[in-house]
Amino acid sequence: MKKELFITFEGCEASGKSTQCSLLFERLLSAGYKVWLTKEPGGTPLANRIRQIVLEHEIDDGLTELLLISAARRDHVLEIKKRLSEGYIVISDRFADSSIAYQGYCKGVPIDIVLSIIDLSTDTHSEEIEDKIKEINPMLNDAMSFKGEVLKPDITFLLTINTNEIQNRIIKSDKHNNFYDRKGIAFHAKVQEAFLKIADGNTKRIRVISGDDDVDAVGKEIWDIVRTHLSHTQDHDVTILNSLSVIL
Ligand code: TYD
Repeated sequence: MKKELFITFEGCEASGKSTQCSLLFERLLSAGYKVWLTKEPGGTPLANRIRQIVLEHEIDDGLTELLLISAARRDHVLEIKKRLSEGYIVISDRFADSSIAYQGYCKGVPIDIVLSIIDLSTDTHSEEIEDKIKEINPMLNDAMSFKGEVLKPDITFLLTINTNEIQNRIIKSDKHNNFYDRKGIAFHAKVQEAFLKIADGNTKRIRVISGDDDVDAVGKEIWDIVRTHLSHTQDHDVTILNSLSVIL
């Protein structure tokens, strides 16, 4: 059976996530894979509209912010599932770990509540099963079921950075800064510390990579991990047009 591959990138502001997402995307494309590069909050027309609301002004209440981001995530997850089932490798620039770090550790929403809301918004109930249930009991026609089949990334790259460097990078960057970019060093350090705590509890999934090295070196480290993962999941149905070694 085809093995799905869902990769996420996490990290504090200016950690180099977006650059590395694009690099990995290009490498996988050149190797002949079908790849979808997406980001959170966002990834679908509805989620992008919610993104605008969330990033327009800071929402002080962490729970309100979490619920909005989670509504966007729910729509995004259904699209990710669809793409995975069509054979795409999906790369997302931020995903659920960002909610644990920002809304949980940094904005005070209790972690167990954040985790419950993540479970709910990433639940991908199978429509096939649901259709069968509805056939048996038409009264259930309008009911949705949640079966705990949550969508989790197969690999998460957590890019770390020397927090003193963050502001320099943000100033140099031509990215349109949001209010999180404009926070002080203490906030960025807290976000990074939160991500490192999450990584400690998920050592199999989360690979911590130092984003202080130059872009190419970081990119090579990430590519080696993905390439090794792909070589261990041979039945991942891909149209490898080029040999992976060609682009090393
Ligand atoms: P964005 O402009 O995409 O910046 P970045 O390159 O840092 O991802 O901004 C997205 C912001 O949304 C980012 O500052 C972190 C925040 N965010 C949360 O607070 N919680 C979440 O669950 C997600 C996905 C993002």
